[in-house]
Amino acid sequence: MSETTFDPGFYIYDANHRFAAMYPLLARQIVDDFGVTKGMCLDVGTGSAAVCIELAKITDLSMVCLDAKPEVLELARENVTRHALPAERFRFLEADVTAIPMEDGTVDLLVSRGSIPFWEDHVAAFAELNRVLAPGGSALIGCGFSRYQPIEEVRAMRPKWSGEGEKDSRNDWKADGYLPRVLKQAGIADAEVHRDSYGVWVHIHKH
Ligand SMILES: C[S@@+](CC[C@H](N)C(=O)[O-])C[C@H]1O[C@@H](n2cnc3c(N)ncnc32)[C@H](O)[C@@H]1O
Repeated sequence: MSETTFDPGFYIYDANHRFAAMYPLLARQIVDDFGVTKGMCLDVGTGSAAVCIELAKITDLSMVCLDAKPEVLELARENVTRHALPAERFRFLEADVTAIPMEDGTVDLLVSRGSIPFWEDHVAAFAELNRVLAPGGSALIGCGFSRYQPIEEVRAMRPKWSGEGEKDSRNDWKADGYLPRVLKQAGIADAEVHRDSYGVWVHIHKH
């Protein structure tokens, strides 16, 4: 499904952002879990680029920030400057998740947070993500918050539509058995689905 509204406020990443406390903790968790600190990082559905910005602060990764919307990428660029990070570490790509303009096997760390509910073809999307992932590379794709946050904070941050038990088509991809089926159809063997009170995430470790 596609997004219907564009809220510019969500794409300005500063201390007042409603998830400001989360992004640095998620970046730390990604580094702790995957141990990838150099090479190429691709963030799909980057939005404000907050995940990339926080990863850039604690690693030597080069960042590719991809989003389908040019107006979002404009704000993402401004956020990199706002956080005083060197512009040359960041590339911005306007593209759909199903047609990533990158060579096969070039991404060492792939992240995508909060974009999957809006993808129209999950099989094509995962096949494309797996194509650009390098052998030995890792991916974290899904929706949720950092398990380094107190769970009460996460409950307060979570948008109403994503609440457990609520019927909203943006949650269809979380249905039991859906992601394993998608991953199989996309030809991805090296993946696991992690589901807890912090969110639902696919981990891929490509061999
Ligand atoms: C809820 S925002 C999440 C932004 C950011 N990752 C974060 O965690 O704050 C979802 C983003 O995914 C992008 N998006 C939605 N569908 C997409 C698609 N098919 N391909 C690429 N980006 C997409 C939207 O433009 C939007 O910026």
